[in-house]
Amino acid sequence: MSGEPRLDLRIAAEAVVAAGIDRPRLIEIGCGSGYYSEVFAQLVPRGVQYTGIDFSPPMIARACERYPAAQFAVGDATDLQYPDNSFDIAFNGVSLMHIIDYEKAIREAARVATRYCIFHSAPVFDEHHRTTFLQKYAYGAPVVEVVFDRQELLAISEKAGLRLVKAWQSIPYDVSAITGHRSRSETFLFSVT
Ligand SMILES: C[S@@+](CC[C@H](N)C(=O)[O-])C[C@H]1O[C@@H](n2cnc3c(N)ncnc32)[C@H](O)[C@@H]1O
Repeated sequence: MSGEPRLDLRIAAEAVVAAGIDRPRLIEIGCGSGYYSEVFAQLVPRGVQYTGIDFSPPMIARACERYPAAQFAVGDATDLQYPDNSFDIAFNGVSLMHIIDYEKAIREAARVATRYCIFHSAPVFDEHHRTTFLQKYAYGAPVVEVVFDRQELLAISEKAGLRLVKAWQSIPYDVSAITGHRSRSETFLFSVT
């Protein structure tokens, strides 16, 4: 990574720093090719103790090849293979929007985290509007994209034992041309209660 980091990368690091834990044990859920392991190493002072999991074996193979020093595993956000309280921070890295059973994914993130959950760059409607499922063709397959009713997302998180600490507006994500309702992406920092 070189030059001025992109807004969403800076916000991801800022959310981790806001948790106030020195070198936190952090699991990135939906880590893709592991790019955020580099983001945290560069933008979080003293870095994080990073583990990344992703549904996709080819993504994990790529991550292992690219970042051999980090820990990666194939895994499902809705059924994490880790005991309760295994990490200081569960960081959902732009994957909540691709998970139909997002409520279960939120419960799982809350279960494995002792201190904080971060849902990074989650699409939300500007105004109150029901959670909407879109479909697009990406990564060589049909992919679902969830645009959340912000109130519902917060209510589900609260039900999972999470308390909102701070939210950041992340990179633009306006799909009003498709839904008829303006949207954006937000990064949420929750504490585990
Ligand atoms: C938009 S990519 C984000 C990748 C990475 N966090 C980044 O920003 O570079 C979303 C990732 O979520 C993963 N994903 C989707 N559903 C998942 C699930 N149920 N469990 C784990 N990972 C999932 C996909 O395989 C994909 O790699």
